[in-house]
Amino acid sequence: MNVHAGALAKAHDFDEQTSAFARDVIDDLSQHPKRLSPKYFYDAKGSELFEAITRLPEYYPTRTELGILQERAGEISAIVPDGAALVEFGAGATNKVRLLLNRCAVGAYVPVDISGDFLNAQADALRRDFPALDVYPVAADFTQRFALPGAVAAMPKVGFFPGSTLGNFEPHEACAFLRSACAILGRGAQMVIGVDLEKDQGVLYQAYNDAAGVTARFNLNLLDRINRELGGNFDTSEYRHRAIYNSERHRIEMHLISTKAQKVRVLDRSFSFRPGESIHTENSYKYSLGRFTALVHGSGWTHRESWTDAERMFSVHALVAEFEPTAVLWSGVPFKALDPSPDA
Ligand code: AVJ
Repeated sequence: MNVHAGALAKAHDFDEQTSAFARDVIDDLSQHPKRLSPKYFYDAKGSELFEAITRLPEYYPTRTELGILQERAGEISAIVPDGAALVEFGAGATNKVRLLLNRCAVGAYVPVDISGDFLNAQADALRRDFPALDVYPVAADFTQRFALPGAVAAMPKVGFFPGSTLGNFEPHEACAFLRSACAILGRGAQMVIGVDLEKDQGVLYQAYNDAAGVTARFNLNLLDRINRELGGNFDTSEYRHRAIYNSERHRIEMHLISTKAQKVRVLDRSFSFRPGESIHTENSYKYSLGRFTALVHGSGWTHRESWTDAERMFSVHALVAEFEPTAVLWSGVPFKALDPSPDA
């Protein structure tokens, strides 16, 4: 980590979440090549833009996954034991989880998300519509270790990770996430996970370069967010959205390209850009069914079943936690060596 970043963030007297954002932004813009983490796309504006993306004609993943969940609802809900605690990684639209809640006798719902505001809005909406459901939101970065609420300790666990958010991780990070989820949910747990599939490059390209320019606004909003929350001075009219398919690495890459030589200030730091220089903001990995099952293998989970749409655009998988991995977080800290949580 950059040695000054933490001190700088502290000096500005931010809350804990904003300090983490500040540290990551300063560290990531100090890298060569520059980068920013896609987990910071989702402030209020970014979440609104993402919702708009999910409705674009070119953006097939959301509606295709929803179609699979609807069409296969019987088979998918059959893997959810009565009285299970349903643990969703990430908060946002509740329409996917509602499909499961409507069909299964779920004992508790545990949404886990980095943004407390979205979590609470999501929890309130679900409590209104499912008055008998116990909702225990957990405000945590699910790429890090977190503890489940004590109240669900005795319940069977089902993880739910829709939307192909897994695609944002490097393959080794995706494997580490699966291991960590396996250790958190425990032996015998089930997992339902949505994974986008590799396909025609033109289709992929259009999905991230939509004609209406919504994805470009979503990408550029990250610079606006830095301006708003960290007092940055990015001139967003001098950066261009670029999304390309990297076929060797099976991933869409999103970048923000500086149109000219320019200097930007964030907190007390200054960053110089060359004309054409990129900030790499997102990878969205696309899997084949074979590459995904290979990833699952060795993560503590056993692959149980997969479902796809007729065109094989998107996939939904059921996994079972066969054994507890001696999970190692990608920080390299052995999972079992961490302090037991107070409510475990
Ligand atoms: C939410 C990570 C699945 O990778 O397709 C959409 C985010 N980025 N358009 C994806 C996104 C640009 C999305 N995920």
